[in-house]
Amino acid sequence: MMATQAFAVNGAKVYIIGRTKEKLDTVVKTYGKDIPGSIHAIQGDITDKKDIARIYDEIKSKEKFVSVLINNAGISSNTLTTEAKTAEEMKSNLFDNADSNIEDWVDTYRTK
Ligand SMILES: NC(=O)c1ccc[n+]([C@@H]2O[C@H](COP(=O)([O-])OP(=O)(O)OC[C@H]3O[C@@H](n4cnc5c(N)ncnc54)[C@H](OP(=O)(O)O)[C@@H]3O)[C@@H](O)[C@H]2O)c1
Repeated sequence: MMATQAFAVNGAKVYIIGRTKEKLDTVVKTYGKDIPGSIHAIQGDITDKKDIARIYDEIKSKEKFVSVLINNAGISSNTLTTEAKTAEEMKSNLFDNADSNIEDWVDTYRTK
């Protein structure tokens, strides 16, 4: 968001991408008014190749080039307690906890 604002208030045309259209529309509405540049929303999921191709096609149809590309999409993995008094307690917190699972790691790293 801060990168979007920094570029747009300095005159850049900025495309923002995310999965949630409402969030994107809020950014356009809140930060896209009365500025030298402009902000444009494209809804899409960057873990989906079809969506990436669609986003590419949409921007290609409107622009001759992209000057700066910021890949910053991210999700947080499940929150785990990292403080522990013993190694056993740490194992219990970080490994045995049901929230600590391969699916959660894969979801997080797939996005990154
Ligand atoms: N904030 C921190 O303290 C911190 C620290 C270290 C690293 N980071 C990393 O910095 C990056 C940005 O963090 P942030 O705090 O700005 O996070 P944020 O406010 O949650 O923003 C993440 C953005 O990524 C979008 N996104 C998530 N999954 C997506 C997907 N599959 N396709 C398209 N867009 C997707 C989200 O929108 P939708 O959910 O609508 O898709 C959201 O706009 C992340 O990679 C994060 O892991 C943050």
